[in-house]
Parts: sequence; C-alpha cells; structure tokens
Amino acid sequence: MAMGETFSSTIGSSEVKTTAAVFVMTLVAVKLATMVNKKRQNLPPGPCGLPLVGYLPFFGKQPPVTFHELRKTYGDVISISMGSWPAVVINGREAIKEALVTKGDDFSGRPAFTTAQLLNDGKNFGFSVFGPTWKMHRKIVSNVLYTFTNARNNPIEDIIRTEAHTVIEEFLAHGEKSFCPRDSMQLAASSLVFQLCYGAHQNIREDQSFVSAVNGGREFVEFTRAGNPVDVMPWLRFIVPHKVTKFVDLITQSVARRERKVEEHVAVYDENNLRDITDGLIHAGDHLTGEEKAVGLDKRRVVESLDTIYGAGSGTVASTLQWCIYVMAAYPDTQEKLFQQINEVVGQSREARLSDRADLPLVEATIYEILRFCGSVPFALPHATTCDTTLRGYDIPEGTVVLINLQSIYMEQDLWGDPEVFRPERFINSEGLLDRSLVEQASPFSLGRRRCVGEFLARMELFLFFTTLLQRVRFYKPAGCEYNFESTYGLTRDVQAFQVCAAPRG
Ligand code: HEM
Repeated sequence: MAMGETFSSTIGSSEVKTTAAVFVMTLVAVKLATMVNKKRQNLPPGPCGLPLVGYLPFFGKQPPVTFHELRKTYGDVISISMGSWPAVVINGREAIKEALVTKGDDFSGRPAFTTAQLLNDGKNFGFSVFGPTWKMHRKIVSNVLYTFTNARNNPIEDIIRTEAHTVIEEFLAHGEKSFCPRDSMQLAASSLVFQLCYGAHQNIREDQSFVSAVNGGREFVEFTRAGNPVDVMPWLRFIVPHKVTKFVDLITQSVARRERKVEEHVAVYDENNLRDITDGLIHAGDHLTGEEKAVGLDKRRVVESLDTIYGAGSGTVASTLQWCIYVMAAYPDTQEKLFQQINEVVGQSREARLSDRADLPLVEATIYEILRFCGSVPFALPHATTCDTTLRGYDIPEGTVVLINLQSIYMEQDLWGDPEVFRPERFINSEGLLDRSLVEQASPFSLGRRRCVGEFLARMELFLFFTTLLQRVRFYKPAGCEYNFESTYGLTRDVQAFQVCAAPRG
C-alpha cells in the first residue's frame, strides 16, 4: 500500500512536472507569438504582464498614477493585457478625443465582462453593446430624465433642498465635536436619485425599499471596489464560484426591489399624471415606436433602466459631495469666498434655487475644480472597440478593452499649467462667468457617444446641495487634524474616512 502510494506519487509528480513544463512552454510560445503579432500589427507599445493575469497585479493602489508613469515611457496609447483581455489605456485629452469623438463608433462598445453579462442579462444600457438597440434605449432614458428634471412642476428642487436640510441638521447636532460625514452623504445622494426614480417621500429613511437599496448599494460597492477578477479572467468562476454567486445574489435582490416598486406604480398609474421617472418609463414603454420594437426594445427592458439610473447616480454623487466637504475644510479661504458670493446673491432669508446658478459662477467653478482636482470619477466605464481600427497611428483590433484615463486629462500639464494646485478661479473667464470651454475640456462626464447620460441631473444636484450646505454651515478641520487627500479606488475615487467639524452660519 505504502509502496503503491509512493509509486503513484512518483508518477504523479513526474506527470505534474511534464504538464507544468508543457504549460510554461505553451505560455512562452503564446507570448512570443503575441509579441511577433504585435509588431506585425503595429499595436501600441506597453509593458509585459504575467501569463494568465496580464498586467493586473501591477495596477497598484492608484491605477491612474501607475498609468501616468507608464505614459512617460510608452506615450498616450499603451497596450496592456487584463487577464484574458487585450487592452489599451488611453491618456490625455487629444488621444481620448480622437478615440471617443472622432472615431466614436469604433470606440464606444463595452467589453463582454462577466458582470456586464449578469446585469439584467446584458441589457443594462450602461454596460450593453454599442448598436441600434443601445442607441434607442439611451435616447428614451435621456428624454425621460430630461422631462422629470425640467417639468414646470419640478419636484427636484424640493427633493434636493429637503435632503440638504436633513444633512445640515445631522451635522449641526454634533455641536463642536468632529464627525465623519460619509454615511450622511451616501444616504443623501442615494435618497435624491431614489426619490427621483420612485417619487418624493416624506420619511424616505424609514422606507424599507430605500433602506435595503442603500444597504445593497454598499455591499455592491464593497464587492466591486477592488474590481471583480472574474471579469477579466472568466475561468476563475470555476475556482472562486462565490465571486459570481455573490454578485448574482445582489442583482437578484435589486431586481426584486425594483419590481415591487414598479408594481406599486402600475397599480395607480395614470398616463395623464406622470409623477416620477418610473411613471415616465412606463409611459415610454407603452408608446414604443415600430422602429424601437424592431431593434428589440420592449416595455420590460425600458423599465429596467431604473436599476441603471439608481446605480450610476448614487455612488458618483455621494463621492463628489464628500470631496466637496473635505475640500472646503482643507481650503477655508475658498470656502469664505463662496460664502460671500452666496450671501450676496441669496442671503440668509430665502432658500437657494437652481435659477441662482448663473449668478453664482464661483460655486459651479469650485464643483468642476473639485471634480478635476479630486478626480472622483477617474476612469470612464470600460469601453471596447467595435471593429478593427487605428488610434494615433497604431492598430487597435476589434474587441480590445479600452480604458479611458480621465484622470490624465485632469492632470495634463499643457492644459492647466499648474494641475497640482487647487484653484477654482481657473474655471472663471475674463467676464467673470463660468468658462464653459474649459469645463468641456476637463471632461469629468467623459466624451462622445457614451458620455454620462445623467450629467445635467448631476450638475443640478451638486449645485443646489452644495450651495444650501455652504449657505447654512461652515466646515473646518478639527484641531491638530491633517488632511492628506488619501483615497481608495473602486468605480469612484473616494476620500478615506475623515473627521470634520460644522458650525452654523447666520
Ligand atoms: C458627479 C456625478 C457624476 C459623474 C462625475 C459621472 C460621470 C460618468 C462617467 C465618466 C461615465 C462613463 C462614460 C463613458 O463610459 O465614457 C458615466 C456614465 C453614465 N452615467 Fe454618470 N456621472 C455622474 C452622475 C450620474 C447620474 C446622477 C446619473 C443618473 C442618471 C448617471 C448616469 C450614467 C449612466 C446611465 C452612464 C452610462 C452611459 C452609457 O453607457 O451610455 N451619472 N458617468
């Protein structure tokens, strides 16, 4: 028995050695073939990665900084491999514009990552493939969003102000003690988009669907924070199946929540009184044109957009609002200038309004400078090429993953002169107004076909929320506390948990 064991383990180990040798030789052969092919195809240059995992282990804790360093060696367009996927990283305004605008049709796909496939069977329009179905789907969502943020009886102003006042009360309740504003801001940002989707609610924090959506969102963010390796190494799903089952669980729960909400809406739906985005999408789903149906759109798919809107609209705004508070405490002089402007235009006796925007250019300029300087959204969602194409003279084959490094624009020396300095006035033109052309160049909402569809909504939320906070509160650093702008990367770049103090104004 013992002999048999020894014999079989000897055979086993020599088999293992042979298999390992063949495996390594195959990998080397594939790598060499790829390198030769790369030369023949004139692919962009880039660093070597490891077999199977590619360059992933070298992304580091701050991927935009890693890519910034690589750009110095390899230029604006860099080849890397992400697990099983060939990928390029595009840096700098000019190269990004060429890809997303000049060659928009070629670069506006999305990679068929596992998570994208799992999100509504790949029908989530934020992750779906580029083509006529996505185009018409996006147009419908864009129209519904526009209608509900521009309606004459627009509930959005009230929703944003009410949320801002809830947060102000929470902050001031701490008195002179310091606190971490993270949970309050996450709740507020989620509540804004949730109420826009499903209707204004007096006690939203007590609504069970909302509470479970927020908790689900937190888990989702934690889960995706480090990226899901199964996305880029699909074979991993057989080794770590929980990575997929956990994700599927979170999606299933979110779909069940949305379906309950939609059923409640359908029960009292009145097409002459559309109350919120859900009603708007139900209406759009009932009135699809023949052309829209012909590309595969149906009411179910249109209504499912609620998940995309909530998902895309909560974390981005929460992260940016947290940076807003952090930066105000870090730069008290800027905070004072903003307060002076708000005090002159709005005063203390009335509420700030969206229509004050034109008279408060420094507030908007500061928001754009925070988006740039703090880079709360450092990358676009992953793009993919839809055909064989070229960029800056290099060949980019169909199906290549394309990482758009927006942070490289925020830090571009030629564009900003002093990108490492926080200076909101850079976004004010010689007439004292917001410099729209510079805002366009900064591109925090990306460019081209897949540019953020919620941009105008996000701008409204950020402006009114931030203005209301600054009108009523002064933020300051607790004594002896240093801010170092450290952050964590996930889908967004978030400021690490921090302490701040809040004093009442007026
Ligand atoms: C601070 C706020 C926000 C920022 C900085 C931001 C930024 C971005 C960026 C950079 C992208 C990727 C574009 C690309 O892949 O090229 C994006 C996509 C998207 N955003 Fe936003 N976003 C914000 C808020 C919102 C809000 C409030 C909504 C709600 C409607 C929203 C909905 C979306 C959707 C649906 C997409 C996918 C678009 C598509 O694939 O066609 N975003 N956003």
